[in-house]
Amino acid sequence: MAGFSLKGFVAIFLLILLLLCYNFEVCEARRGKHWKQRRLPASSLAKKKGKGKSGGGSHNNHHGGGGGGAKPAPPAPSPSPCPSNNSMFNVLDFGAKGDGVTDDTKAFEDAWMAACQVEASTVKVPSDYAFLVGPISFSGPYCQPNIIFQLDGTIVAPTNSKIWSSGLLWWIEFTKLKGITIQGQGTIEGRGSIWWSQSEPDNEPINEDLDMKMPSIKPTALRFYGSYNVTVTGITIQNSPQCHLKFDNCEAVHVFNMSVTSPGDSLNTDGIHLQNSKDVAIHHCNLSCGDDCISIQTGCNGVKIHNVNCGPGHGISIGGLGRDDTKACVSNITVQDVNMYGTMTGVRIKTWQGGSGSVQNIRFSNIRVSEVQTPIVIDQFYCDRSSCKNQTNAVALSSIAYESIKGTYTVKPVHLACSDNTPCSDISLNEIELQPMQEHYHMYDPFCWQAFGELYTPTVPPIFCLQNGKPTSNRILSDHDIC
Ligand SMILES: *[C@@H]1O[C@H](CO)[C@@H](O)[C@H](O)[C@H]1NC(C)=O
Ligand SMILES: *[C@@H]1O[C@H](CO)[C@@H](O)[C@H](O)[C@H]1NC(C)=O
Ligand SMILES: *[C@@H]1O[C@H](CO)[C@@H](O)[C@H](O)[C@H]1NC(C)=O
Ligand SMILES: *[C@@H]1O[C@H](CO)[C@@H](O)[C@H](O)[C@H]1NC(C)=O
Ligand SMILES: *[C@@H]1O[C@H](CO)[C@@H](O)[C@H](O)[C@H]1NC(C)=O
Ligand SMILES: *[C@@H]1O[C@H](CO)[C@@H](O)[C@H](O)[C@H]1NC(C)=O
Repeated sequence: MAGFSLKGFVAIFLLILLLLCYNFEVCEARRGKHWKQRRLPASSLAKKKGKGKSGGGSHNNHHGGGGGGAKPAPPAPSPSPCPSNNSMFNVLDFGAKGDGVTDDTKAFEDAWMAACQVEASTVKVPSDYAFLVGPISFSGPYCQPNIIFQLDGTIVAPTNSKIWSSGLLWWIEFTKLKGITIQGQGTIEGRGSIWWSQSEPDNEPINEDLDMKMPSIKPTALRFYGSYNVTVTGITIQNSPQCHLKFDNCEAVHVFNMSVTSPGDSLNTDGIHLQNSKDVAIHHCNLSCGDDCISIQTGCNGVKIHNVNCGPGHGISIGGLGRDDTKACVSNITVQDVNMYGTMTGVRIKTWQGGSGSVQNIRFSNIRVSEVQTPIVIDQFYCDRSSCKNQTNAVALSSIAYESIKGTYTVKPVHLACSDNTPCSDISLNEIELQPMQEHYHMYDPFCWQAFGELYTPTVPPIFCLQNGKPTSNRILSDHDIC
């Protein structure tokens, strides 16, 4: 009798097991076609050894199981092995742990490989998880268009210096895609503090190599390269080691309703950096960082920025352009309805001596400044060393409009320093009202050098130094200067 019931039990058990396996196999079969596309499994990251060494105190959270060295005990309830439908690729289904400790890079790569095959698919990074992801490239030359990267959880950067080897230029990269959207309520956390101050141990948990120096080349947190129709919305990017969000060689870029957050004293942490990109719209963003909130570099044309809050930071800048005698071309840039709080400069154009090319058709409109050191700046003598060689060549600046720039400054209201050989032309100033902050005693008057243009309304303070009309000594442009 006992033997019989045991047999029955075993039979049922086997049946259940069989059913489970069958389901599992269907799943695996469905995924099988993606597996063939995988890259070499043994990336340096995948080979990284277990993280068991980290100090005791850092592990007493609810995922404490990771300490064993070889294989961390699975902490989370195990996710469904099948994606819910065939255009949704959840990183958890590809083995991501999301405990903030385990390296989930491979799961992200695999989820991407799968999503890449399906037009308008979605890579899902679910909320309430923190995914530790190493340097990663979501590369798209052979991907289907219009992929969505749904970021609701947090992606955290490794702080182990070995992972960054001798220095990488970016952490998360999307390249050569047609139609890519990053959206959601999630966060990209760069854990930059150990990069900003090499010596200072930070409060983050798990960093077994704090005593090792981070490389001197610091990565940009999120970079898009060579892509068309790019959208970034909803997310927060914070504490990047260097620039937070960068677009290079992109066209039709839309960034809105997102935030960048880093301390005002974090070195070189630009908010958004644009280079060689056209048809760009950035609006309804809050950008707080340690360098330019937005920086526009050479090759940009057709950029519209509006409804942005900037500060702390260095303001919104075009340049530095023309470094090392290079040619720079920037045109058709509009910055309007922007608030700046406590920034170093407000709206700024900066070029190095010796450059060529041009900056033209720029409009700064309705900028509210509050305790900004120098709200309006053109600096054609930009130099980040102690001194730079005087040169005659310069990037030519023309057609620069300032309309309704109002608020308070702490150092100097207006600084327009243009090249001797290539004066700025067609600068227009309209409704400029800049008041000094009372408590600062040492203030400068507006400054202009070789700046030509027109005042359309009286200004506060009066700007007497702008020269009327056109510069007479306008240099003949050579082919080399024409953009
Ligand atoms: C797949 O999932 C997404 C998100 O849940 C949903 O919008 C879409 O309609 C689903 N597609 C199918 C074919 O079920
Ligand atoms: C741009 O991307 C969006 C979202 O991915 C897509 O719906 C749209 O069709 C794309 N537009 C073009 C012109 O490719
Ligand atoms: C802005 O993004 C947040 C997510 O960070 C979202 O909850 C909100 O609905 C978005 N607002 C708009 C107007 O799109
Ligand atoms: C930006 O800040 C403003 C004011 O604090 C807030 O209302 C808005 O929701 C923020 N936008 C984003 C994208 O966080
Ligand atoms: C800048 O905009 C003007 C007017 O919208 C347009 O005619 C011109 O071609 C644009 N410049 C470039 C370099 O595309
Ligand atoms: C460059 O020119 C400025 C202004 O004429 C002058 O004050 C400065 O000393 C020169 N610098 C060098 C390195 O020659």
